[in-house]
Amino acid sequence: MNHFELEGGELRCEGVSLTEIAAQVGTPVYVYSTATLTRHYKAFSEAFKGRNVLVAYAVKANSNLSVLRTLARLGAGADTVSEGEIRRALAAGVPPERIVFSGVGKTDAELEYALEVGVQEINVESEPELDRLSQVAAGMGKRAAIAIRVNPDVGAGGHAKIATGKSENKFGVSMSESQRLYAKAMNLPGVRPVAVACHIGSQITDLTPMREAFGKMRDLVLRLRAEGLPVERLDLGGGLGVPYFHQPEPPTPADFGKMVEETLQGLDIDLAFEPGRLIAANAGVLLSRVIHVHERPEGPRFLVVDAAMNDLIRPAMYEAYHDIRPVKPRAGEPLDYDVVGPVCETGDTFARARPLAPLQRDDLVAFMSAGAYGAAMSSEYNSRPLVPEVLVDGDRWAVVRKRPSYEEMLAREPMADWL
Ligand code: LLP
Repeated sequence: MNHFELEGGELRCEGVSLTEIAAQVGTPVYVYSTATLTRHYKAFSEAFKGRNVLVAYAVKANSNLSVLRTLARLGAGADTVSEGEIRRALAAGVPPERIVFSGVGKTDAELEYALEVGVQEINVESEPELDRLSQVAAGMGKRAAIAIRVNPDVGAGGHAKIATGKSENKFGVSMSESQRLYAKAMNLPGVRPVAVACHIGSQITDLTPMREAFGKMRDLVLRLRAEGLPVERLDLGGGLGVPYFHQPEPPTPADFGKMVEETLQGLDIDLAFEPGRLIAANAGVLLSRVIHVHERPEGPRFLVVDAAMNDLIRPAMYEAYHDIRPVKPRAGEPLDYDVVGPVCETGDTFARARPLAPLQRDDLVAFMSAGAYGAAMSSEYNSRPLVPEVLVDGDRWAVVRKRPSYEEMLAREPMADWL
């Protein structure tokens, strides 16, 4: 459920008119709902009542500072994959003891930074990284709490580009290696293994592969403990899918929680999760204006909108389906539209032959489920200024990322002094 509803013939976000936001901020613009972010965070954390659980929101999904602060105030931690994300989480008020640092290629400088600010856990993804982290930490007179990220060799996730849990993917170490590395880490000067972690993919709408992976993780914890190695926490990643319309209905957080408990079979251990999409996707829309309708007598009817693949890359990159809703739907039979942006690539196509209520020049449309991996993946391709973001909370709203002016865009590029 989300808080973007038709009311009085117009799509609104909570108590605010999307037409009003578009008029004041211009389009394209992302609009996020505080009530939906809150609802999703709570639904997820309440699925694990009675457990000591860290819900570390995956910052990559939507890294806007106001979104992060909204979640931080609810008690969320942060799953981060770069120094930039750690800095964002801290700036938003996430305490370092709720920050997890993951990623296959953390630089020495990033590891040093993470140790300096005292993140809760660093998820180590390979043996060379383990050695390097131990060296960096020992050099600083520190011992880093680490998790070994395991690749459980289970296929899942909607699209090949976002599946992470197969042995051919770059993430983590194999199950058998993990045991050796955990034992090795016990004897390294700069690290202290406390957890094992996995994350097998994103937009997973079937619990079966997760059940398989988590079962393997449970067995791993038992094997490690049987060797006398302490394992305090199990990090089971993110990846639970969301409804994108015309896609399989995903399990609810409650179903997911039940599956986790069943799979762990009473294992006494703290848990951590890193949901991103689940929290943010349906809490945001990309609002865009129709530039014009271009009808070819023999061919498709193109709806040319002012948002493009640089603002929302998911359809171009993953063939992702985003529901498109006219903000003020007109009466009349739906027509088939090819919805395209102004970027000079055929890939800049949001939808083909999509039936929509009739649209005209200057009408507004909302790309739904765009709160995750939308603005966070945006760019200035075609020298289109970075898309702005707005946060709504009840009847109030604020611009939480400004649209840069053309002057600001050009000012970032000093001319080479010989030119
Ligand atoms: N933890 C780790 C280690 C991850 O790699 C990811 C996502 C997450 C958590 C959060 O996963 P989520 O709960 O959001 O599924 N840009 C793609 C998705 C990339 C996901 C990458 N890793 C998309 O737009 O579909």
